[in-house]
Amino acid sequence: MNGTTSRNDFRFPDGFLWGASTSAYQIEGSPLADGAGSNIWHRFSHTPGLVANGDTGDIACDHYRRWRDDIRLMKELGLAAYRFSIAWSRIVPQGTGAVNTRGLDFYDRLVDGLLEQGIAPLVTLYHWDLPSALDDRGGWLNRDIGEWFAEYARVVFRKLDGRVKKWVTLNEPWVVTDGGYLFGVLAPGHKNLYEAPLATHNTLRAHALGVQAYRAEGKHEIGLVVNLEPKYPASDHPRDIAATARADAYMNRQYLDPALLGTYPEELRDIFGDAWPEFSADDMRLLKQPIDFLGINYYTRSVTRDDSTALPVRASRVRQPRHVHTELDWEVWPDALMDVLLWVTKRYGPVPLYVTENGSAFYDPPSSEDLVDDPLRTWYLRNHLRAVHRALQQGADMRGYFCWSLLDNFEWAHGYSKRFGLVHVDYATQQRTVKGSGRFYSEVIRTNGACLAGG
Ligand code: BGC
Repeated sequence: MNGTTSRNDFRFPDGFLWGASTSAYQIEGSPLADGAGSNIWHRFSHTPGLVANGDTGDIACDHYRRWRDDIRLMKELGLAAYRFSIAWSRIVPQGTGAVNTRGLDFYDRLVDGLLEQGIAPLVTLYHWDLPSALDDRGGWLNRDIGEWFAEYARVVFRKLDGRVKKWVTLNEPWVVTDGGYLFGVLAPGHKNLYEAPLATHNTLRAHALGVQAYRAEGKHEIGLVVNLEPKYPASDHPRDIAATARADAYMNRQYLDPALLGTYPEELRDIFGDAWPEFSADDMRLLKQPIDFLGINYYTRSVTRDDSTALPVRASRVRQPRHVHTELDWEVWPDALMDVLLWVTKRYGPVPLYVTENGSAFYDPPSSEDLVDDPLRTWYLRNHLRAVHRALQQGADMRGYFCWSLLDNFEWAHGYSKRFGLVHVDYATQQRTVKGSGRFYSEVIRTNGACLAGG
């Protein structure tokens, strides 16, 4: 920003990339269409009792068939970019081996459709929907998954690089491990302390081998997306401070340190005890691959206290009763977004940054035919965008912002009960209605942030 910018001027630099995000299993529907293989979320959601209301991604937003309409919607909103993920099981149905060209064709057409409307695609290669056939071979616990992932990634790079200029290897490896292997609330639903570090390491190997495959094939940019949740001590008691460091190591540094510095945080040994293995120096060297940008997903912060019952980290969140919380009980705290963008910049050196997800599930009032008024989501958005702007002014190399999410969608174990969309989806009719927050976001894009000064 130039020196004449005033404190209330929220204009973003020219070329700042305004977008919205989705992921394959959450919106596409038709998970087995056109030769696709099953994926672990298909299995998980079809197992009784694991997803709220027995919801599955069988239909979701029917984006697999309605993608042309959805691109029109993006255009109407004025999006300059769209972040979506590719379902591995559509491309390589058994996870390795034979390629399903009909699956590739779907994404080929989607990318062309976006480019025709002047919308830049940002493609995530893995957003939690592992081919079931690979889960049968150990999934993220099998060390070979790094090579399997690179093989799949290569197929996609060869087809789409050139038209796609920004790539992400994995979305939120922490959630893959924490939800999938340690606490079991997400697919594949394991609960095992000894598995978690292996899953962590294998996600990082997959990321690294994916980046290496890209360097051999691709000509543009590739990065990693992590979810960060700044931790603040609940008091200045040394035990709370130590618990905060453990929570931060577990959630925020567990992936960034190895990927960017080539080491795991010391605290992980303390957290995992004898479940934490020694990893070889060769592996650690591999994990640190130069990346072109970092994507940060931010939803909330955590005020943290020492808690010997909350294993394995021995830290828990202290709810802030008088603060606003979303429907997922996540505290709304925009300042922490600024803090985390500056923290990343300081700890890992200047790296081009995108906010690749940020958004909220709120208790939206009922919708009428053409209006869904969601003032709380608009308020959330305005304040978080202001926080991004403040981070930019203080030196974070911010390149873009992607709101989560374009559409209401399948919110994993919560099924369709939680809505994050800028656009409301009536699941009975598949009717899309732009919410008040969607209109507000359009105005932000149109004015390149200038309208954030009001309201
Ligand atoms: C995930 C999304 C999810 C969102 C809200 C992120 O962790 O990447 O898939 O819908 O959070 O829970």
